[in-house]
Amino acid sequence: MGEKLAEKPFENKLPFTAAVITLSDKGSKGEREDLSGPAIVEILEHAGYEIAETMILPDEQATLEKELIRLADEKQVNLIVTTGGTGFSKRDVTPEATLAVATRNAPGIAEAIRAGSMKITPRAMLSREVSVIRNDSLIVNLPGSPKAVRESLDMVIDQLDHGLNILLGRDGECARK
Ligand code: MTE
Repeated sequence: MGEKLAEKPFENKLPFTAAVITLSDKGSKGEREDLSGPAIVEILEHAGYEIAETMILPDEQATLEKELIRLADEKQVNLIVTTGGTGFSKRDVTPEATLAVATRNAPGIAEAIRAGSMKITPRAMLSREVSVIRNDSLIVNLPGSPKAVRESLDMVIDQLDHGLNILLGRDGECARK
């Protein structure tokens, strides 16, 4: 009673599962603490997602592709969020790995993040993040810093469950409220 609907996004629906992948050469070798992965976990859990897996990987395209395919096809994780590897460094290959495993494009989420982030810093134009669908899973790239992760996810988190419900056939149409 008296609870706001926004605080219970998955009421009457099964919760969604999520996996979080941090891309960082230094993080994967234990040379840098990963603050961005835990920030994503915190936001997703607060929104009602059940965290199925988290991992830190080096910036290697083949390794990331393999994990994305495993999480989507074998583990059937509903939402996979990556952080890092979206910039212009030669080692930044997160968007390439993500596009390589996509079955359909879902550009609006990355577009919304970049547009919203441009209001915070013009350097947002330097993030090459993409958002795609692989079969029944949604994959969203985020930049690497904890600040960017929080800002970016806050811009789109409230819309993701509706997209997932449609993707999974749980919502038939976009009811206008
Ligand atoms: N987006 C938001 N919201 N906030 C930020 O601070 N930093 C930008 C950009 N996007 C930033 C952001 C910067 S400085 C870079 S270089 C790119 O993300 C790429 O980040 P990455 O290489 O860590 O993935």
